[in-house]
Amino acid sequence: MFRSDSHRSVVSSAAKLLALTAACGVIVCASPVAAAEPGHFGYGTVATPEQIAGWDIDVRGGDGAGLPAGTGSVSKGESVFADQCAACHGTFGEGEGRFPKLAGGKGTLKDDRPELTVGSYWPFAPTLFDYINRAMPMPTPHTLSADDVYALTAYILNLNDIVPGDFVADKDSLPKVKMPNHDSFLWKDPRPDTAARPCMSNCANPADIKITSTAESRNLTPRTTGPLDTMQPK
Ligand code: HEC
Repeated sequence: MFRSDSHRSVVSSAAKLLALTAACGVIVCASPVAAAEPGHFGYGTVATPEQIAGWDIDVRGGDGAGLPAGTGSVSKGESVFADQCAACHGTFGEGEGRFPKLAGGKGTLKDDRPELTVGSYWPFAPTLFDYINRAMPMPTPHTLSADDVYALTAYILNLNDIVPGDFVADKDSLPKVKMPNHDSFLWKDPRPDTAARPCMSNCANPADIKITSTAESRNLTPRTTGPLDTMQPK
């Protein structure tokens, strides 16, 4: 396309112009902030701290690491919720139609049809901030300010009687909220093999290893030798 033999020169210049325009569109014009510095693999550009911050939004449930600055009250959350969320989740989190309930369901987890809600099921309050911040409102996620997300989090926790009406959510208060179902989760895996250390040197000869007990013999799993439809715990 860039050959310069005379009979193709007109085409060639036009093609060059196009190619330059395209390059401008993709590299320079689309990202005026990033310098032309090559990226890690020799192409693209190195992401700026601002670009990374835009993606780095995760919040850790247990200790709330990653919660941003900002603050929000239950009462402000009530009005944001009415505008942005109630159409699907109901004014009090009761759920419209088939959209999920955000409140209630306490004590139903062992029922035939358990109602899993923020109040009955979720183990961590900071996760509520994280979920709303990344996924809601469903039609237009990533449009809420941190203050609004904090306010919505406070309101939904209040709907579930987990925090009082004067609660203010922020990065310090949310990790301290004790969720009702927190202790029903197993926080340490009780299966012995998950705690086993992998052997990296001077390991036993596989031929010398004897199986001394199995999950089946300890009555931990259903019988696995027969056809599936007759599988019953012993
Ligand atoms: C157009 C309907 C719609 C709107 C508006 C909406 N949501 Fe949702 N929301 C959903 C649906 C559907 C789900 C379930 C998504 C899934 O399970 O993947 C959901 C899930 C949730 C959950 C998780 C529930 C759970 O226990 O798993 C929360 C919390 C939540 N929404 C909060 C909000 C908040 C706060 C707003 C307002 C800012 C909002 N939603 C607006 C439809 C909506």
